[in-house]
Amino acid sequence: MKFKFIMAVVSVLLTAATTVSAQQKNDTFRPKEIWKDTEGNAINAHGGGIMYHKGTYYWYGEYKVGKTVLPSWATWECYRTDVTGVSCYSSKDLLNWKFEGLALKAVPDDPESDLHPSKVIERPKVIYNAKTKKFVMWVHAESADYGMAAAGVAVSDTPEGPFEYIGSFRPNDSMSRDQTLFVDDDGTAYQFSSSENNQTLHINRLTDDYLKPDGTFVRRFIGLAREAPAVFKYKGKYYMLSSGCTGWDPNQAELAVADSIMGEWTILGNPCTGVDADKTFYGQSTYVIPVNAKKGEFIACFDLWKKKDLADSRYIWLPLQVDKKTGKMSIPWMASWNMKDLKKK
Ligand code: DGJ
Repeated sequence: MKFKFIMAVVSVLLTAATTVSAQQKNDTFRPKEIWKDTEGNAINAHGGGIMYHKGTYYWYGEYKVGKTVLPSWATWECYRTDVTGVSCYSSKDLLNWKFEGLALKAVPDDPESDLHPSKVIERPKVIYNAKTKKFVMWVHAESADYGMAAAGVAVSDTPEGPFEYIGSFRPNDSMSRDQTLFVDDDGTAYQFSSSENNQTLHINRLTDDYLKPDGTFVRRFIGLAREAPAVFKYKGKYYMLSSGCTGWDPNQAELAVADSIMGEWTILGNPCTGVDADKTFYGQSTYVIPVNAKKGEFIACFDLWKKKDLADSRYIWLPLQVDKKTGKMSIPWMASWNMKDLKKK
């Protein structure tokens, strides 16, 4: 009886302790550290993008679980985990994220599906179409050997999904691997994608419903092998943060600017500063969040890939600061920071 009572007390205390720790709020960004969601689980949304809709931020990313393997036939370091789907998290403050579940789920019973676990789904990005009132997701749809080089498109009536997968294609009959979406102020959307064997970037204008390219596209950064594009706008100019092309390994980031979205684009150089800035702090760009674009307040989001244990990959979110006098943009390394650091001192 006494033993039972003690066990009951211990169990109540343990439950209370778990609840308290699960509810602990994040108050600072801590790049490279495990970032917990509101339930206390590590956030699992890699190669992702953020969509702001009606006062809430949504974070979509690759949901990586299970073992990382290098296939026996691999001729390069195409480390992979099975496709499980695209996760969705929601937040009001960008620090505390609630897991909303898988917005796009794997399709384990159809080996032909792009969403079969044996395939590769990367770099999901979601945008809202005000005309059709649909949420539109584009992903990099791949075969396990990365030979497919296509874009996959899915739609949903709600930000959390479930998204309905429409299918994949090569935009303007061209290869498409690392990719992002950008909606301009006039509602026109564009897909930026690493094309031509990752050597040249294509900027594809999309149809009004955002479901396919409308046929107008340009080749930019020709032969410069840019990957991981992240596009944002500041004071009427377009900016693209991107990485070089070295598999899962880090390299130097680069910022470019253009007066018109289709270019010409001018390379500004590496915006990262501080320790390991020449290796993007060991990260790779994925998105730039316009927290307050008018005031020049942006967050640069990078992935810290762990190629031999992809499920333990982390995030490096840092302020992208704009010098008010010169307009120069920089991304300084900070081991911990908060929203006040978005302003350049
Ligand atoms: C670099 C890309 O940016 C990633 O999304 C992924 O495709 C890896 N290459 C695979 O090596």
